Amino acid sequence: MDKLLIEGGVRLAGEAAISGAKNAALPILCAALLTREPMTFTNVPQLNDIDTLLNLLGQMGVKVSRDNAMVTLDASAIDNPVAPYEMVKTMRASILVLGPLVARCGEARVSLPGGCAIGARPVDQHIKGLQAMGAQVTVEHGYVHAVVPRLAGARLFTDMVTVTGTENLMMAACLADGETVIENAAREPEIVDLANCLVAMGARISGAGTDVIRIRGVDRLNGATHRIMPDRIETGTYLCAAAATGGEIRLTRTSTAYLDAVVDKLMDAGCDVVAERDAIRLKAPARLTSVNIRTSPYPAFPTDMQAQFMAINAVASGAAMIRETIFENRFMHAVELQRLGADIRIDGNTAVVQGVERLQGATVMATDLRASASLVIAGLVAEGETVIERIYHLDRGYERLEEKLAALGAHVRRVA
Ligand code: EPZ
Repeated sequence: MDKLLIEGGVRLAGEAAISGAKNAALPILCAALLTREPMTFTNVPQLNDIDTLLNLLGQMGVKVSRDNAMVTLDASAIDNPVAPYEMVKTMRASILVLGPLVARCGEARVSLPGGCAIGARPVDQHIKGLQAMGAQVTVEHGYVHAVVPRLAGARLFTDMVTVTGTENLMMAACLADGETVIENAAREPEIVDLANCLVAMGARISGAGTDVIRIRGVDRLNGATHRIMPDRIETGTYLCAAAATGGEIRLTRTSTAYLDAVVDKLMDAGCDVVAERDAIRLKAPARLTSVNIRTSPYPAFPTDMQAQFMAINAVASGAAMIRETIFENRFMHAVELQRLGADIRIDGNTAVVQGVERLQGATVMATDLRASASLVIAGLVAEGETVIERIYHLDRGYERLEEKLAALGAHVRRVA
């Protein structure tokens, strides 16, 4: 298994380009299942999760062609509307094929994703919504099996804000008979990006980005071309790395447009952040000030940035409280940060982080995608060498991470 070796103590400086958003690309690639016509996607990030999804679509009968960041999908012949456990277990966002397959084929058999390091990750809201739209759904032998000749528009209300739940039901509703209203919808920018792609295909959607989304079903959708939006979490991660190291960087092909909550916290921590049209500049102080964090659905502070800010607070001056309200087990990075010398106390879904002058390099283990990013940030500021094991987690969500960090001056290398 690959490891990342980081020699800490370097202030990041220079420029890096941000890739397309993983959490926009995953649902948007699944939208290709809704039409018989070819779809072309650009600015698709080159990540393991994207590879997994393209393999999953391919085994359903979708013709996949790829040229770096451009992907073309032809779902004219879906001969196997099944997402098998062997593939779904490696990438739980595979559940995003459920809605499109039911809408397009009238049937789908998708393995339950199962939990992951950060939580149980149930999909009951996805199922509840499809049942409300008329699908017969059974859950047997670890698979969700949904059948319906044609979905019917319905008024849906999710018990909690669910990003992929909203995405699955919005995609399914595009081909339903009649109007669907999703209340308590997630408002993430990735949902707006998905809606923009679906509208380009001929869907009739209004309200994406608000908590009430209306979809008037149509009989068929056309092919289209769509450019994936920039990855706001990758952007935030590099901003945190520069902030923690007292650096000064410029990130291109991105913007602060969807990062207000994160940028506010970086400025509270003492950073200067300048938004350009298609770029962001950050200049960090010699030492950051601790900032309290409470994760909530968009547009509030994103849970996917919580681990990165725990690393920031670990070396900032002062004490900070971090409250994780979305997932039940998203502090796995804390014990690894403690191995680097961080002073963190966990009490349920709250962490109290007392900033220390410096961290010491050590060998640590990545447990999930954003926890891995937190360890990278800590390794960049720790004295001496930090070795991060199981970095396949990182490869799921950060394109060419060590290359981009090296371009910013970091002493980082990957070893098998
Ligand atoms: C999406 O996951 C993202 N993944 C996650 O990013 C992100 O952390 C999360 O949204 C929250 O923003 C993708 O978009 C592919 P949820 P998702 O459904 O949709 C509970 C990353 O690091 N829930 O919004 O799976 C659930 O357990 C990943 O890139 C139910 O109980 O998250 C959680 O507590 C990690 N039943 C809460 O809702 C359901 O049917 C929010 O989950 C659905 C969700």
